[in-house]
Amino acid sequence: MGCTVIIGTQWGDEGKAKMIDFYSQKADIIVRYQGGANAGHTVVVNGKKHVFHLIPSGILHEGTVCVIGNGVVVDPVQLIEECQLLENEGIDVRKRLYISDAAHLLLPFHKELDGAMEEARSNKIGTTKRGIGPCYADKCLRVGIRVGDIFDEVYCKERITTALAIKNPQFERCYNREGFTFAETYDLLMTFKDYAGALAINTPYYLYNEAKKGKNILLEGAQGNALDIDHGTYPFVTSSNPSIGGAIVGSGLNPFMIQDVVGITKAYVTRVGEGPFPTEDKGSDGELLRQRGGEFGATTGRPRRCGWFDIELLKHTIRINGITTIALTKLDVLSGFETIKVAVGYSINGKKIDHFPSAMQDKIVPVYEEHPGWHEDITGCTSFKALPVNAQNYVHYIQDTLQVPISIISVGPDRVNTFEIK
Ligand code: IMP
Repeated sequence: MGCTVIIGTQWGDEGKAKMIDFYSQKADIIVRYQGGANAGHTVVVNGKKHVFHLIPSGILHEGTVCVIGNGVVVDPVQLIEECQLLENEGIDVRKRLYISDAAHLLLPFHKELDGAMEEARSNKIGTTKRGIGPCYADKCLRVGIRVGDIFDEVYCKERITTALAIKNPQFERCYNREGFTFAETYDLLMTFKDYAGALAINTPYYLYNEAKKGKNILLEGAQGNALDIDHGTYPFVTSSNPSIGGAIVGSGLNPFMIQDVVGITKAYVTRVGEGPFPTEDKGSDGELLRQRGGEFGATTGRPRRCGWFDIELLKHTIRINGITTIALTKLDVLSGFETIKVAVGYSINGKKIDHFPSAMQDKIVPVYEEHPGWHEDITGCTSFKALPVNAQNYVHYIQDTLQVPISIISVGPDRVNTFEIK
């Protein structure tokens, strides 16, 4: 296995957590490399639902080590809460978790600012209000506080003072809100230090050495390529790089150590929040996909927008990330449709375009093909051959058009509803 990266190929919520759980069976170490508690990873084991926001979902596999990489923004309140939840379930999480000492800490003022900015914007992004954008902004402005910065008392205090000197006037002047006190910020950081300080290490050094020893490392992406700040539907994106570049920068592993890039791909498309979505179906088919697929956000509970498979979007993701194999998820949700639509091309202002564009994505008019559907419930299928012929044809069609092998199919929420195509 070596180093394998898991990437969402659409707008997130492709079923990555379930696939990470599947791949974790062969992994020694699981690393999250970007994003923060905006992600909501749902894994169902023996019918019991687990939702993770920060801790890699692979933690449910005994014997694996989980790492929160330097590219992740760590909300200390959320992290402590998740650890405690797992500890209450008998999982000794702090014996198997490391946090990068270079990861930035996401503090209450980041969350408050995220909410205030969303409220003030006329053209809303529809963020998760988890403070992601403001925390990454502080990282770029070089006023962020990193995990490794809280161990030296004098330095930590200096960082807090610098951060609040910039943040508080913004709250008071721009948003007419009260600022944050030094004491509350310092206390939170010290609580985090006491609870999780021992988990902080230099993760690139650790991962490099473990990779050299031949350990199998799984890099777990959050969100998806179309939400990438560079390659997505800007400005309706998240503030990090869910794409392969983010995996390298956010883990510190060098690119030559990556062997496989698995693109987790839903058999249709969803998006939560605002922004362009060329194949969105605002009619009864979209509603049917939402209800059948249980398409409601794991973090915010918001209904997800639903639509049809988009070939150009996938080709864009494959080009950028070098996807070596695809795991196709939620194929079962398509059961019952007379025909299944697939967007095979685009035009903008009447002009045909042959790629996913960087701008004017809201003007895209998709060109559809229709494929015959199937009516059988396929959740019990355990092999490709067991699928109805039209479902097999749909999978073949996607694989042949994208020219990337589909190696795994998921036909239901539980671990058992997954099979490999040999
Ligand atoms: P933020 O990441 O909270 O700043 O939100 C920016 C955009 O990314 C919004 O449209 C969110 O709905 C979307 N987003 C963030 N995290 C996820 C995720 O885990 N799944 C799907 N969409 C997400």
